[in-house]
Amino acid sequence: MALDTRAAAARVLAQVLGGKSLNQALPPALEKVAPRDRGLLQQLCYGSLRQAPQLQALLDQLLTKPLRDKDRDVLGLLLCGLYQLEDTRIPDHAAVSATVAATRALKKPWAKGLANAVLRRFLRERESLLANLDAASAAAHPPWFFQAIHRQWPRHADRIIAANNNQPPMTLRVNSSRVGRDNYLRDLNEAGIKASAGTISADAIYLQSPMDVAELPGFEDGLVSVQDEAAQLAALLLAAEPDERVLDACAAPGGKSCHILERQPRLGELVAMDVDPERLIRVEQNLERLQLQASVVVGDAAGPPEQLAKNSFDCILVDAPCSASGVIRRHPDVKLLRREQDIAGFGEQQQGILAGLWPLLKPGGRLLYATCSLLDGENTEVVQQFLAATPDARLAAQPPYAGETTSVGCQLLPDPGGPDGLFYSLLEKT
Ligand SMILES: C[S@@+](CC[C@H](N)C(=O)[O-])C[C@H]1O[C@@H](n2cnc3c(N)ncnc32)[C@H](O)[C@@H]1O
Repeated sequence: MALDTRAAAARVLAQVLGGKSLNQALPPALEKVAPRDRGLLQQLCYGSLRQAPQLQALLDQLLTKPLRDKDRDVLGLLLCGLYQLEDTRIPDHAAVSATVAATRALKKPWAKGLANAVLRRFLRERESLLANLDAASAAAHPPWFFQAIHRQWPRHADRIIAANNNQPPMTLRVNSSRVGRDNYLRDLNEAGIKASAGTISADAIYLQSPMDVAELPGFEDGLVSVQDEAAQLAALLLAAEPDERVLDACAAPGGKSCHILERQPRLGELVAMDVDPERLIRVEQNLERLQLQASVVVGDAAGPPEQLAKNSFDCILVDAPCSASGVIRRHPDVKLLRREQDIAGFGEQQQGILAGLWPLLKPGGRLLYATCSLLDGENTEVVQQFLAATPDARLAAQPPYAGETTSVGCQLLPDPGGPDGLFYSLLEKT
């Protein structure tokens, strides 16, 4: 029998509260609920996590004592209940009764009274409970991250926070080797799909509403892919030339690799590497759908495999593992999982990756360093430190950057209805 949707959401949230990523916790849960409830389950999980810092601060006021770790599912259910009352159009009485009823599916009948009391008190005292929140909780951000955004991007903080708290747009990348953007926009228009052109990437199209990719004209045939507009800047900045050898060193699931190949059909070779063999399967699938060719290699960028010879690549893309602080709206679990002290660890890992890859670049070659982070500790500081330690590395002259200019590159900021928050710095070997 299918699992109750709110109980399923509560269990997903409990796993994230216990340290698992949403990408790990959600897919098995989607299989357990009725197909018609999958959209609601997804909305409850994403929405509760997007609002979690605020909902947790409300719960702190509503609970007389904290719940035990073994009752994280009840905590998840209460967060999900508050989310419905605060941020959805589900009528209050329906949200309360469905959430209270889910305690049975969780096999925690003792929690029925608690859920009922907490949610009803929230409805009675909503105004005063919300008025008690500090600025970070009211903005549904962990305090350290709220402060970091204000410190680093004071003029843009409100917009970044608004973007982080909302669903991202669905953005497409037209396969420019097969179809022009204007022609594809016409195809969409004829299919009754409302869309508009992006302004940063010549290949980007914004859909007015998200939809199933299978219903996009030519998707299965490889005419188009789903990719954020800021992510499309990578291939444009790298601007690979005919016959060049390119290494995409952190390639999975392959969005940027495929774009590089679409943009330069006469490339010498593209090597798509990733440390995670499971994730490389997605690269193979994307290459196949888009009818593109690359050499797919499992390897650690910090200590690349010997088959990748020194001085053998004209271009290297390093889309480094990072905090994902620029794509929180797509990965809202980051609000709960990431800690301030993680940033230094990412910085060290990124330094190791840059140092490991640099010898593979030919003299005169270029390396594009990218992250989906907004934080200096993973961006400007990493590049500055690398430049100081690497005598034959320097900043490339005048790349066609977009967004905010920084001392070593550019930062796209997450924008409601616009791009994600990505950082780029283009280096060259002397
Ligand atoms: C931001 S994602 C890359 C997204 C990809 N470039 C795209 O556009 O589809 C970062 C990737 O780095 C990989 N990774 C993490 N550490 C790595 C390492 N030491 N060497 C190679 N890949 C690594 C992860 O497995 C992950 O797939």
